[in-house]
Amino acid sequence: MINMKGRDLLSIHDLTQEEVFQILKIAEYLKTQQKMGQAHPILAGKTLGMIFQKSSTRTRVSFEVGMWQLGGHALFLSPQNIQMGRGETVADTARVLSRYVDGIMIRTFAQEEVEELAQYADVPVINALTDLVHPCQVLADLLTVQEKKGSLKGLKLTYIGDGNNMAHSLLYGCAKVGMDVSIAAPEGYMPDEAVVAAAQADAQKTGSKIVITKDPEEAVAGADVIYTDVWASMGQEEEAKERMKIFAPYQVNEALLQKANNDYIFLHCLPAHRGEEVTEEVLEGAHSVVFDEAENRLHVQKAIMALTM
Ligand code: CP
Ligand code: NVA
Repeated sequence: MINMKGRDLLSIHDLTQEEVFQILKIAEYLKTQQKMGQAHPILAGKTLGMIFQKSSTRTRVSFEVGMWQLGGHALFLSPQNIQMGRGETVADTARVLSRYVDGIMIRTFAQEEVEELAQYADVPVINALTDLVHPCQVLADLLTVQEKKGSLKGLKLTYIGDGNNMAHSLLYGCAKVGMDVSIAAPEGYMPDEAVVAAAQADAQKTGSKIVITKDPEEAVAGADVIYTDVWASMGQEEEAKERMKIFAPYQVNEALLQKANNDYIFLHCLPAHRGEEVTEEVLEGAHSVVFDEAENRLHVQKAIMALTM
């Protein structure tokens, strides 16, 4: 057992492969416990502060419910109601919250803000989405792939669409566990080069192959897992119309999926925009496991909290 007490989760890239597998193992265990109705109050008496600078359905509910199932308590802190929204610094907020709570979860815009919070907080900080990465989502995605496919190493995941926070965390996550990853994105919307380079360094160690291309058909060939995400992320609402045109050739639909392996699974972090990045047919089709994936947010985040808090 690797001791992860007190550790932050800012990006999957910061974890070792062993730590990723440990999180997945504990998540599986807690999932079984919960399904059997076995109480598991590992965090009794502990409190998680949850700062949300952006909207959320899955993240908010799964962290709050997860903390409750672990015997602890979660506090929802919206920018409208905390002084951070009126200019109190991140550093001061981190030090004050650390005197009350046992862990801080934050969803915000800049990754630097999460890093600053972690620097000043005395308690573990969990990144629940920034413009750069979404590590909790990809840990849940890896758990879902492992459940559906039996293992991770050697599989190929293809991500079609915007080179955004999801693309970045998938690059980090797949490279870490030895999965091949192909990303197809239009010019100007490719994943960040520094992220690709950092993932590449891990890929060299784990034997996974990273391909970044503009061609969705090339990317989909031989894929075991197909992934997509919205074309306009939170904070990019005013670009939505322009992006609709640019991303149109990147829609995940049945025609494109002819090139994937016959037993591919389809993942989407949700929320989905049917008829844009994915068709209704694919999202609701036999290969789609998006709701099992959403459920796994709960189990994986419980594992993260149980291990770090
Ligand atoms: N996938 C995800 O993080 O969903 P929410 O924005 O609803 O939390
Ligand atoms: N890329 C999306 C993911 C939402 C879970 C966003 O940042 O809005």
